[in-house]
Formats: sequence, C-alpha cells, structure tokens
Amino acid sequence: MAFTIAIDGPAASGKGTIARALAARYGFAHLDTGLLYRAVGRRMLDGTDPQQAAETLDLADLDEDSLRTAEVAQAASKVAAIPEVRQALLDFQRAFARRAGGAVLDGRDIGTVICPEAEVKLFVIASPEVRARRRFEELAENGFETSYDAVLADVEARDARDMGRADAPLKQAEDAVRIDTSEMSVAAAVARAGEIVDARR
Ligand code: CDP
Repeated sequence: MAFTIAIDGPAASGKGTIARALAARYGFAHLDTGLLYRAVGRRMLDGTDPQQAAETLDLADLDEDSLRTAEVAQAASKVAAIPEVRQALLDFQRAFARRAGGAVLDGRDIGTVICPEAEVKLFVIASPEVRARRRFEELAENGFETSYDAVLADVEARDARDMGRADAPLKQAEDAVRIDTSEMSVAAAVARAGEIVDARR
C-alpha cells in the first residue's frame, strides 16, 4: 500500500534529518530529491548541458559526499530553475513516492508538485541564521573550510532563487503542517513530525 510523507522546506531547515528518522521509524524508503538536482548541477559544472544531464542521470551516481559542497548546491539551485530539468526528473520521483510499502521524500516541491496526494505533508522551516549555523557546522565537520558569513550568503541566495522561480517554486502546500525547528532539538523535531504522521495512519 502506498503512503507518502512529503517534506519540503528551505536549505538546512532540518528536513533531511526528519526524513531519514521517519523513514527508519516506519520502514519506508527515503529519497533526498535535492541529490538529483545536485547531481545535475555537478555535471553542469563539469561542462554537460543541464537538460542532457537530467535526461541521462544515473541514479548510481548519487554519491552523497561529493555532492555536498556549497559550489554544487549553488549549481543545483540554478539547474533546478530550468523546466526541462525538472520535467526529466518528475516520473522517477512520482513513481518513488507511490511505491508499495511507503516513501518519504524531502525537497522543495514534493507536497505541491511531485505528490499533491501525499498522506502527510510537512513544511520544515528555521531562521536563516540558525540554518546557516547548522550548515556551517556540518561543512566544517566534513572538512570543508568556509566561514559562517559565506554560508549565510549561500543559503540566502539559494532561498531567493528557489522561492522566486516560475516553475515549482518553494512554497508551503495549503494542507502542509509547518514545523519551525529554530529552537527545537533534533529529537523534539523528529518527535513532533512522528506525532503528525501517527495521527494520519
Ligand atoms: O540540503 P539543502 O536543503 O541545502 O539542499 P538540497 O535539498 O540538497 O537541494 C539543493 C537545491 O536543489 C535546492 O537549493 C533547490 O534549488 C533544488 N531542489 C529543488 O528545486 N527541488 C527539490 N525537490 C529538491 C531540491
């Protein structure tokens, strides 16, 4: 039986952490859809046309670590504004969302475009400063040298691009439940999300 948990929100809001925790808790498959756009962005940086990169994307190439840089994130949000790129990635995401056994997808347009029929929709937010702090610490832990100010500027530039684009902009679905994680621990945010899912099951 299909059961979809759609989680959207801006960069470093905590949606990925919540998505992974819910997938583990319910035994659902998880797709971090940002990785699809990051993989296309990465190939654009290597000189490939973005539409062609999206149409020939090899899912085996979603090698997480190498896609987690700030440079790839910016490229991802640029290719994500190209309608042909989004179109090429649509069917795979829709099929994943409705697979038997349940699925959790996190991204920007899951509850609005990819799976408007999702049984649960969460919109996860946090202040730009909190999100930049989290992403800065994450990058530092993984050995990337950067500054808090650079990360904040990166996050704000991506938010503006993701919310301002014409095709599938980042916005809360009308029937999504908003979780502001600015002042929540990871455990509290996951617990809150779990309560919302349990109420719908
Ligand atoms: O991890 P973080 O929230 O920083 O970014 P991500 O989820 O890996 O997404 C990288 C970029 O891909 C975003 O800034 C969006 O431009 C784009 N994206 C999108 O347009 N639609 C999605 N469903 C997921 C990501």
